[in-house]
Amino acid sequence: MKRRLSMIAAFCLTLGCAPVASAQSEAGGAALPRFVMTNAEARDGTDLSGTWTYSIDPYRDGMAGFHGGEAGEGHRRYDPRDVDEITRQDPTALYEYDMRRSPEATLPGSWTKHAPEMRHYQGLVWYQRAFDAAPKRGERAFIRVGAANYRTQVYLNGQLVGEHEGGFTPFTMEVTDVLKEGENRIVLGVDSARDEASVPPPVTDWETYGGVTRAIRLVTVPETFVDDAWVRLERDGQIRATVELEGPGAGGKAVEVGVPELGLTLSGETDETGIAHLAAPAPDALERWSPETPKLYEVSVAAGDDVLPERIGFRTLSVEGDRILLNGEPIFLRGISMHEEELGENPARIMTEDAARALLTEIKEGLHGNFVRLAHYPHSEATLRLADEMGLIVWSEVPVYWRIDWENEATLAVARGMVAENLLRDRNRASIALWSVANETPVSEARNRFLETLIGDVRRLDPTRLVTAALLSESQEEDGTVVSEIADPLAASLDVLAINTYNGWYGGLPLEEVSEVRWRSVWDKPLIFSEFGAGALAGFHDPKLERKFSEEYQADVYRETLEMAREVPFLAGMSPWILKDFRSPRRQHPLYQQGWNRKGLISETGERKEAFGVLAAEYQRIAEEGRE
Ligand code: GCU
Repeated sequence: MKRRLSMIAAFCLTLGCAPVASAQSEAGGAALPRFVMTNAEARDGTDLSGTWTYSIDPYRDGMAGFHGGEAGEGHRRYDPRDVDEITRQDPTALYEYDMRRSPEATLPGSWTKHAPEMRHYQGLVWYQRAFDAAPKRGERAFIRVGAANYRTQVYLNGQLVGEHEGGFTPFTMEVTDVLKEGENRIVLGVDSARDEASVPPPVTDWETYGGVTRAIRLVTVPETFVDDAWVRLERDGQIRATVELEGPGAGGKAVEVGVPELGLTLSGETDETGIAHLAAPAPDALERWSPETPKLYEVSVAAGDDVLPERIGFRTLSVEGDRILLNGEPIFLRGISMHEEELGENPARIMTEDAARALLTEIKEGLHGNFVRLAHYPHSEATLRLADEMGLIVWSEVPVYWRIDWENEATLAVARGMVAENLLRDRNRASIALWSVANETPVSEARNRFLETLIGDVRRLDPTRLVTAALLSESQEEDGTVVSEIADPLAASLDVLAINTYNGWYGGLPLEEVSEVRWRSVWDKPLIFSEFGAGALAGFHDPKLERKFSEEYQADVYRETLEMAREVPFLAGMSPWILKDFRSPRRQHPLYQQGWNRKGLISETGERKEAFGVLAAEYQRIAEEGRE
């Protein structure tokens, strides 16, 4: 706690925020997560995925009584007691819940899939399961949740061990002093409700998917352990490692980072706060990571009796004028956007490695892509590790989306906490090239201040990657030609500019005029078309009329937009909207949408639409001939 506080203090000293001890934020300042637990999946422990019982609580009766005080004993669903046994002993006892005999569900996975009536449920759901443990002396135990949407309370054996706000980043709570020998009972209270101060606010263009969407694990580590390890190649040719130990023996401890295949060992010692900064010149034999050669090295981080394994790709990123450079060479990002939603007619945001592989393979092999925009929030670690393995460059983003409460200090603190949790979880992923701080946020003084703060946080936590944001553009007619440009002051603070442009779908420009639109930029910076596209219901053909939502119309929007894109010399990449149709409560046309956003190039079951072939052909051409 002392060290992490000092880390928070250091972080907050530079940011001017009030150092806080909790993993969450307080008004006026973000906090680094209390624990990072790099590569937690590799740690010893117990996977608590599987069968849990669940109980809905739309009026949050389990949190507080109707009079506003503490929940009555007969309502405390976080309590591990055996209600059946108690009421056998005392038939007059009144309990209006019984977690042990509640309906069962499989976690992880959003509650939309637990039962038909849960499809549109929003609110609080309690989950419980039992598990056996055998705590060992000198070992520390944690509960780690990969993600739960949107607010979560974690109870172990009836004791609140932590809370978290945010639906897409992991949280880790220490339970060393609460874990029992033999049977333990864990309860999660997950509340999907968001308000105007949330990140994101209630209105988005995607399904909320409330509940526990990524794995829950009991993690055990030595008393002093490697909590945060970041190993990377930097532009000066050095391989650097920042290692932070957690525990009573964190200070003045020898640390070794090994890359056996390179015969490389970085050695050093932690300072009094438990942090070590190591560096060594990259060996000549180093094979740099790229989409064509996604080379990953086994890395070990050793301190005392703790050894943490990782798999890391080494590469550099930079911008030079309006080019993005990967390992010093210009690269054009042939991409597509993607939500975290598996293929199938009733997805529940269960992104297993196989589910992610099915989607990323459509990008890499189907579309001849080398890039994926993981919209609009941090995706699962399984997806990121797969992008490392398969060779896809990643745009990672936090859900600072549309109408954020820019003036609200608590909202800023939550957003900063999400940035920190996102970057600290994923800094070892070679595939991530871009950190995005916002999507389509209307320009205002308050919004600029808010986003400048996030950009500052990103640069402090990771100066090795590029910062971007999906901006809005402005267009005007000049001598009969529509000229579009980026008129967003935030562009000055970004490394890579990005624009969502929907000519031909939104706005009144006739489809056949889209290819004539010209782009102007006063910035000598790379531009990514981070979104463009159109909706189409797979199988709806309308070759004569070409109404919107026909496959023909969508394919022509792609043809016209790609023709326009060829005329933008400072364009460095594209991630059209979107790989797959995805659930969105805002999209309710009874024939074409039925609660799905149909801008996918493939349907929810993976059926390719005509536009898929249009983009694939363009990316194949670019891959073989370059853009010019
Ligand atoms: C916006 C937004 C997406 C949305 C898309 C659409 O650009 O960024 O989240 O789904 O447009 O309208 O389909």
